[in-house]
Amino acid sequence: MTASLTVADVMHKPAVVVPDIITLAQASVILDAANVGAAAVLDSQGRLIGMVSERDLLRSVGHGVDPAITKVDEVMTKDPVTVSVSDTVEHGLEVFRERRFRHLPVMDGDKVAGILSIRHVVRVAHIEEVQPAGSAPPGLAPRGLEGVAVAETSVGDVRGEEGFFHYRGYNATELARRCSFEQVWHLLSEGELPDDAQLKAFTRLAVEARSIPEQVADLLPKIASLPGYTPLMALRSAVSLAGAALEQQPTLDIPADEVRRECLKMAAIVPVLLMRLHRHHLGLPPVEPDPDLGYAGSYIQMLTGQRPHDREIRALEQYLILTMDHGFNSSTFTARVITSTGSDIGSALTGAIGALAGPLHGGAPSRALAMLDAIGTPDKAEAYLRHEISSGERLMGFGHRVYKTDDPRSTLLREVATELGGAQAEFAVQVERTALRVLNELKPGRRLYTNVEFYAGVVMNSVGIPPDMFTPTFASSRTVGWTAAIAEQAANNRLIRPSALYVGPQPPRALPEGYGAALKSAELAR
Ligand SMILES: CC(C)(COP(=O)(O)OP(=O)(O)OC[C@H]1O[C@@H](n2cnc3c(N)ncnc32)[C@H](O)[C@@H]1OP(=O)(O)O)[C@@H](O)C(=O)NCCC(=O)NCCS
Repeated sequence: MTASLTVADVMHKPAVVVPDIITLAQASVILDAANVGAAAVLDSQGRLIGMVSERDLLRSVGHGVDPAITKVDEVMTKDPVTVSVSDTVEHGLEVFRERRFRHLPVMDGDKVAGILSIRHVVRVAHIEEVQPAGSAPPGLAPRGLEGVAVAETSVGDVRGEEGFFHYRGYNATELARRCSFEQVWHLLSEGELPDDAQLKAFTRLAVEARSIPEQVADLLPKIASLPGYTPLMALRSAVSLAGAALEQQPTLDIPADEVRRECLKMAAIVPVLLMRLHRHHLGLPPVEPDPDLGYAGSYIQMLTGQRPHDREIRALEQYLILTMDHGFNSSTFTARVITSTGSDIGSALTGAIGALAGPLHGGAPSRALAMLDAIGTPDKAEAYLRHEISSGERLMGFGHRVYKTDDPRSTLLREVATELGGAQAEFAVQVERTALRVLNELKPGRRLYTNVEFYAGVVMNSVGIPPDMFTPTFASSRTVGWTAAIAEQAANNRLIRPSALYVGPQPPRALPEGYGAALKSAELAR
């Protein structure tokens, strides 16, 4: 059905347009009056130069911008992707999937004829789904499921085109700037930011939950001495053992508050397991977590055995908050699929860690740091970076599948790294500047910006975390996001069981003549 419909059939028309010189406050009045989520921005010649959405307005105001004096062209998406009136709705859907916009200007020649909203397109696709067109073959979701919403969530979301992500509606970078790890953990786990009394009670529970079962503690040295030891493999095994030692029951059989309690327990013990394994592997005695230190402080203290400085704790805490959750990523999806079978929390977390261990997901912030080491000094940066790109290599810490603008995590981590100071942070800023210039020149139009990994390594290195513990540190904070997703799935469960489009030989196939005869005679001879 969507194939026969064009964008012109479903778009909002006439297009809501605003001139680039009006303020955010004026634009918001226009959007309100027209009851639309976005408008096309035109210059004085009537040419399309951008799109401005309610989201842009909200985000800017959230960042402290004054809507009464700021002009729309300062916050709009510049040079927006467009579709044409004659494009099919399917093409529109494809653009929404790939580019993750919510609104697209629809062009009739060089005039803006309407605005296509993702809601228009999804509504048409939904009608098609509930009223299948005769014997048409079932649709196949895009490989990698890009742009396909497979669940509802109130944990958080990523808006790649806008360079924005949030936890339960709060700007995640603002949370990282202003809150403690425990406050944001409470937000994700309990659904709301805590007041003082709630925070106190939650922090006490989280500290108490750090104790690990004795049987697991006894097994950790063995895991840490396995020949193929990697910190994530070891953590995956330890989490699985902890689930068994804690006698976790299927989430299907336990009430929601018990699911949340077990989630808290697991999120609290992950850093303890990680650090014990790390120290056993190095032949060092484990360090018990200091109950007077919060999550971030005890993380460093269990690693090094030293009480860290406040500014180191705060720097790591900000990194940990920024990486707690990031939309419906592969490991979060894995945790939800496992939970959807009614399985226990330990199983869901074991699976999630397994998914994160893949290089395409957990990445390697250590590679960005290794690139800085390989460059050595600022004067060598330009030649090194040019050589890398010209030989088809990718610059570590740049580019992102979802963010086609600044990755908000990298923006804050740059600040955190710079505040921590030191020669490496200064050097990283110089390399970043050169890299962005060289990328812009050698890869024009690819929209390559700094990603989370570029400064993550610098920050972690500055607070004493060794490179092989970078991704495990990410796993530790992400456990908070995973457990929020597990609790959400368990509270409103439906078995996730998609289908695949069979593309093998046409069934039913006849077995070759005489096939299996040899097996039969061998069985008879037995
Ligand atoms: C993250 C990443 C995998 C996303 O890639 P993607 O969205 O699939 O982008 P594509 O592979 O489609 O690349 C598009 C173009 O940009 C180029 N590109 C992407 N990232 C690049 C980088 N870091 N350095 C140089 N060129 C890059 C590609 O070579 C390609 O160029 P082409 O059009 O000439 O072929 C990719 O940017 C990358 O490999 N970055 C480096 C590794 C890294 O930092 N990973 C951590 C991610 S959080």
